[in-house]
Amino acid sequence: MTHDTTPPAAIELQGISKTYIRNSVRVETLTNIDCAIEKGELVAVVGASGVGKTTLLHLMGALDRPTTGAVLHFGQDISALSDEELSRFRNKTLGFVFQFHHLLPEFTALENVIMPCLIAAMDKTEAVNMANEILSEMGLASRRDHRIEELSGGEQQRVALARAMVKQPAILLADEPTGNLDEHTGERVAELIFEMNRRHGTTTVIVTHNLALAARMDRIIGLVEGKAMELSHEELKSWAVDRQMTAH
Ligand SMILES: Nc1ncnc2c1ncn2[C@@H]1O[C@H](COP(=O)(O)OP(=O)(O)OP(=O)(O)O)[C@@H](O)[C@H]1O
Ligand SMILES: [Mg+2]
Repeated sequence: MTHDTTPPAAIELQGISKTYIRNSVRVETLTNIDCAIEKGELVAVVGASGVGKTTLLHLMGALDRPTTGAVLHFGQDISALSDEELSRFRNKTLGFVFQFHHLLPEFTALENVIMPCLIAAMDKTEAVNMANEILSEMGLASRRDHRIEELSGGEQQRVALARAMVKQPAILLADEPTGNLDEHTGERVAELIFEMNRRHGTTTVIVTHNLALAARMDRIIGLVEGKAMELSHEELKSWAVDRQMTAH
């Protein structure tokens, strides 16, 4: 008797479709996507505005349910989980950076970053230490006690990344993590993402319009007309130009 000893993929999408219904108009965003992301891989998702990148990332992060198909994390089909079980699973396994970061504006940077630790019932002193460390790494030590609404867009984006990374999640999903940043700060943020991957084997999926950043990932997935396709590093640039994506 043989046993399949291949470890399950960190994220597997099986026949995923997502249709939004808006004013009784059906918007078929994703159609029949199959994709497996192995543990420890760094993956970029690229494609024109409105093609469904955020939708795909939300499905990978169990923030939304597909219209058809299944999403598996480390071999577990999460469609069977209740909303409460899903929240617990997300807190334990996933770090998510939203395109429009969704921080709590009236709370400080530090309070936002420790939030996932407190939800997980971690010791508060330990949570504060971990949050301080990641905020320092993001160059935000001097801003930790500022309220989010007092921070610049780029600073807010770095706080959002710190919040996603503070518990060293097995999977990091980031929607345009360098979108609002100048080149130098964007590079620093990218380095932190790569370093977390090197140190902890974090499986990482980044949605980005930054082709130079996409080119540094292990794999690139291009979205077009609801379909996902694997792109080689060589074809990335011409693929993006053909689709009139902004080239960086
Ligand atoms: N909640 C929703 N209800 C209805 N339609 C939606 C909803 N969310 C997204 N859409 C539609 O689905 C399509 C894909 O949206 P999505 O946000 O995934 O695109 P995107 O690739 O992330 O774009 P961008 O690069 O501009 O962020 C768009 O046509 C959008 O209008
Ligand atoms: Mg988007």
